[in-house]
Amino acid sequence: MRNRVASFLLVLVSAFILAAHPSGAQSKELPKPFDLIQWNGGKFIYGVDYYPEHWNEAQWESDAKMMQAAGINFVRLAEFAWVKMEPVEGKFDFAWLDRALKVLNAHGIKAVLGTPTGSPPAWLYAKYPDIAAMDENGVRYRYGSRRNYCLHSPNFIAATQRIVTAMAEHYRNHPGVLGWQTDNELGDPLCYDAYCRAAFHKWCRAQYKSLTALNKAWGTIFWGHTYLTWSEIPLPWNTLGKAHNPSLALDHRRFHSAATHDYLKLQVDILRKIAPTQAITHNDMGMYDGVDYSVLNEPLDFVAWDNYPMFGGDYSNYFGVGLAHDLMRGSKDNQSFMVMEQQGGLPGWSIFWGRQAAPGLFRAWSYQGVAHGADGICYFRWRTSRYGTEQYWQGILDQDSYANARYQIVSQTGKELAQLTELLHGSKIVAPVALLVSPDSRWAFHIQPLVKDFDYNRQLGLYYAAFRRAGINADVVFPQSDLSGYKIIVAPSLFVVDKPLVEKLAAFVKNGGTLVLSYRTGVKDEHNVVTDQTLPGPLAEMAGIAIHDFDPQTNQEQELVDVEGERHPARVWFDVLTPTTAQVLATYGKGYYAGQAAITINNFGNGAVVYVGTELASAASSSKLINFLAQGKISVGPSLPEGLEFAVREKQGKQIFFLINYTEKAQTVTLDRGYQNALTGETEPAEVQLPAFDVRVLTTP
Ligand code: GLA
Repeated sequence: MRNRVASFLLVLVSAFILAAHPSGAQSKELPKPFDLIQWNGGKFIYGVDYYPEHWNEAQWESDAKMMQAAGINFVRLAEFAWVKMEPVEGKFDFAWLDRALKVLNAHGIKAVLGTPTGSPPAWLYAKYPDIAAMDENGVRYRYGSRRNYCLHSPNFIAATQRIVTAMAEHYRNHPGVLGWQTDNELGDPLCYDAYCRAAFHKWCRAQYKSLTALNKAWGTIFWGHTYLTWSEIPLPWNTLGKAHNPSLALDHRRFHSAATHDYLKLQVDILRKIAPTQAITHNDMGMYDGVDYSVLNEPLDFVAWDNYPMFGGDYSNYFGVGLAHDLMRGSKDNQSFMVMEQQGGLPGWSIFWGRQAAPGLFRAWSYQGVAHGADGICYFRWRTSRYGTEQYWQGILDQDSYANARYQIVSQTGKELAQLTELLHGSKIVAPVALLVSPDSRWAFHIQPLVKDFDYNRQLGLYYAAFRRAGINADVVFPQSDLSGYKIIVAPSLFVVDKPLVEKLAAFVKNGGTLVLSYRTGVKDEHNVVTDQTLPGPLAEMAGIAIHDFDPQTNQEQELVDVEGERHPARVWFDVLTPTTAQVLATYGKGYYAGQAAITINNFGNGAVVYVGTELASAASSSKLINFLAQGKISVGPSLPEGLEFAVREKQGKQIFFLINYTEKAQTVTLDRGYQNALTGETEPAEVQLPAFDVRVLTTP
């Protein structure tokens, strides 16, 4: 009997240990797709980026109390604290971080820890100078700032392995640590040292197998650049006029993107092995295109990103922010994601960048993330730093810790999101349309920007905004994505195409989809070599057009005339279209090609291909085109005044509508009927009044 009691007690005790230290169950796999709210114990992730090492320890307790009062349940810690965790090579000190975690955890706040490799310590550079990246002129970066290491330096790889391993071993069973952020904003700089050059040669060998194949693919006979040994291949460093072979330059961008992925994966593999029950993410940068996020994010459990809507001091570009959210979501199969750095004050380094945002905008931006699929919002940063480069980069609090208007609005938002969590949990973005982003085309345009005023992201943005103005949710897809579920896909300036992508797009159209292409499409093959087919190259047949002439815009004004006689301003580039099987939707209004086709539509299989030979310069024009294509195919949202966004999340047939007013004036939107206010429970009238910077969350029953 005594033995049975003893073994019963033993079972109870070990069950308690497992519950208290869930990561004790070492072999448990993290669920896929990853559920962020479940991960955070059923709470909507609401957090701040916190730097306890920047403040007196005596302040930690009052900080944690203030955070808890604002509904904060999550912090990101330690991503720049390498020197504090490894003050001397191979000697670790986590005691300070343990104490900070204890204080935060006691106030119901859990943490992700950043691996601190984004800012290596001065002693590491002093001891191993070759960890610093080299610029294209052959000069090594000197110590200072951050993010200036070489991805292929063996000394840096070893130092990375050491600190990541030590952190993982120390925190793998910590009940207050939910997981990891690897490094910080991976991407730059490109490094031109001997390690990276050797790694590039290895990458080229793996891609092309033989030098004959590489020479052929890159067309190295031009200027007699043919390579006889792998080691002759240069990096595209700063030569006279930066005139490097575009094929080599594109492969170098791909190589750097792949190397960044491999560096992230190196960290992920260590963390997974030692701490398999803790989740792993990274903080991406939205529209940043130094790396291909659809590849970089593959080893992560979920995507996180850093969102500064007012980066250039301009907060009118709310559709641009929406596009970045959707690109981030699309970079990992449209699974839910979080914002790891949400703008918490006015940005600035040595000067403040722009004007202060009205407090209501901080709430509006947080809801915008949620409306686009985020299941977590974490503000950068809790309090503005007293030290260093970012003294002017405002956190929620200023240095004096006064509970200012930003703190009040963040607290209000925290309470509301807690109230909405049950409704939001498990809901998703469902979009009938998508924008196709081609990382190869973006890089190829960086290498040869076409004309001065060309901007690939602006092409995406103009069609994206047209969808949003019509109240239509949009996804962002990549060449490897499944395209089959969409009704319309816009692939602007699809410069670089390979055979699999052409076939995929053709299948999409044949099955009834509408594909919108625009100028400079189908110009290059996958090696950044110009096609010898009539443009738009391999897409000409499905577009039903031939392009025998084009006119780059140089200080000239052009306009289109559509079939209804309406005139539309156009800019940047003018492809003169000759329809083969397509019908004309608009012609050019000026110049020697006036009257020739500028926009066409071609039936192909069960679908259609629209080709826009120019950049539409007004919102009314892109809206007219998108509304025409959506007609009868897609149900559009309510008619929206400027400055107002409408977005939808869905959950088991239930729809959750978000109406966000980014302007400083009250606005009215008329819906098809009254819906329930998700916060008050009351049924709102169909005519919704939205005060300045306000948000309304409505649901169907
Ligand atoms: C980035 C970084 C942060 C911080 C902010 C503000 O997003 O990830 O560490 O530097 O910018 O500058």
